[in-house]
Amino acid sequence: MKKILVAGGMGYIGSHTAVELVSAGYEPIIVDNLSNSSESMLEPLEKLCGMRPKFYKADIRDRAAMDKVFAENEIDAVIHFAGLKAVAESVSMPIEYYENNINGTLVLCEAMRAAGCKKLVFSSSATVYGPTNEPPYTEDMPTSATNPYGWTKVMIEHILEDICTADPEWKVLSLRYFNPIGAHESGLIGEEPNGIPNNLFPYIARVASGKFDHLKVTGNDYPTPDGTGVRDYIHVVDLATGHIAALKRLDEQNGYDAINLGTGKGSSVFDVLHAFEKACGRELPYKIYPRRPGDLAFSFANVDKAKRLLGWTAKYDMDRMCADGWRYIEHVSK
Ligand code: NAD
Ligand code: UFG
Repeated sequence: MKKILVAGGMGYIGSHTAVELVSAGYEPIIVDNLSNSSESMLEPLEKLCGMRPKFYKADIRDRAAMDKVFAENEIDAVIHFAGLKAVAESVSMPIEYYENNINGTLVLCEAMRAAGCKKLVFSSSATVYGPTNEPPYTEDMPTSATNPYGWTKVMIEHILEDICTADPEWKVLSLRYFNPIGAHESGLIGEEPNGIPNNLFPYIARVASGKFDHLKVTGNDYPTPDGTGVRDYIHVVDLATGHIAALKRLDEQNGYDAINLGTGKGSSVFDVLHAFEKACGRELPYKIYPRRPGDLAFSFANVDKAKRLLGWTAKYDMDRMCADGWRYIEHVSK
């Protein structure tokens, strides 16, 4: 059974990917410093995987700890989710974001090189398309960013491309995620942000569970069909299966590449709200607020490259994303 190091595997996307790795016949080896997750994730993971995944509580910036992980396990490839991800926080804490995300990736790559493991799948983001490209975004568009978080993704993509140019033994795929939402259909794992959520879906979920009394719709004067921002929401399990396809692709790929993981379809804030209302069976109150600075009217992917190179397409629709997301919220509120 091939062992896959899942850096950041206790988090939202990493935990769903660990489950899909086991179903696809891989053994996930999880490394996480628990800065945005908890060891209690191992309980549902054990239920869903039918085995307790091997877990190292370690920071990817800790070279000695990473060397130990590689020495104790014959790792075939690495999936790298370990990063800080809150856009607003990155603006107030740029040093912490650059240090964690960029230094973490460099130390991880050093440990990989030392262990002779040169296959990597990296969690990039649609944010690298920046403010000037027009959607649908294609992978050949120029990249840029508007905040430190986004710049870490742009910079890491460049670093990984340079590593592949310097040493042809490396094979790296940056997966540019659009907006992952929803949860595993079991309701056992999902997204549990600390504090007040910045993102739409977990905010709606808290309105539905009665924690907040209304959704703040941030802008209804965009040039979109209903005036609210349009995004390409993708079910987190679809995203997870995209990583399995990416691992298979690495064996045929030479050097570096970047691929969008999205559905190719845009949904407005009201589309998501109404689908969530269907899922939870009641109307959810909202109020209109000013636009969030830096928000785009539209963001959605061109997904042809994923179809062509990974043989992968997203299969779940917005109703399913909301139904599964709500099942998880009901499970955690019990
Ligand atoms: P998450 O915070 O739930 O998971 C990240 C995990 O990495 C956490 O468990 C955290 O404890 C761990 N971690 C952070 N820094 C670490 C370090 N130095 N060493 C070891 N572990 C560390 O986030 P997520 O939503 O699962 O996102 C995973 C990746 O995907 C991130 O890199 C994120 O930037 C990227 N991404 C996420 C989204 C999204 O909307 N969720 C969109 C695009 C890209
Ligand atoms: N929105 C609201 N109310 C809220 C939160 C969001 O109306 O409380 C609106 C936003 O204005 C936007 C849409 O809902 O139109 C989606 O906002 P999110 O914050 O959920 O998602 P973003 O597309 O703004 O950003 C997210 C991540 C970024 C990542 C990007 C692409 O936060 O880090 O997706 O992957 F880069």
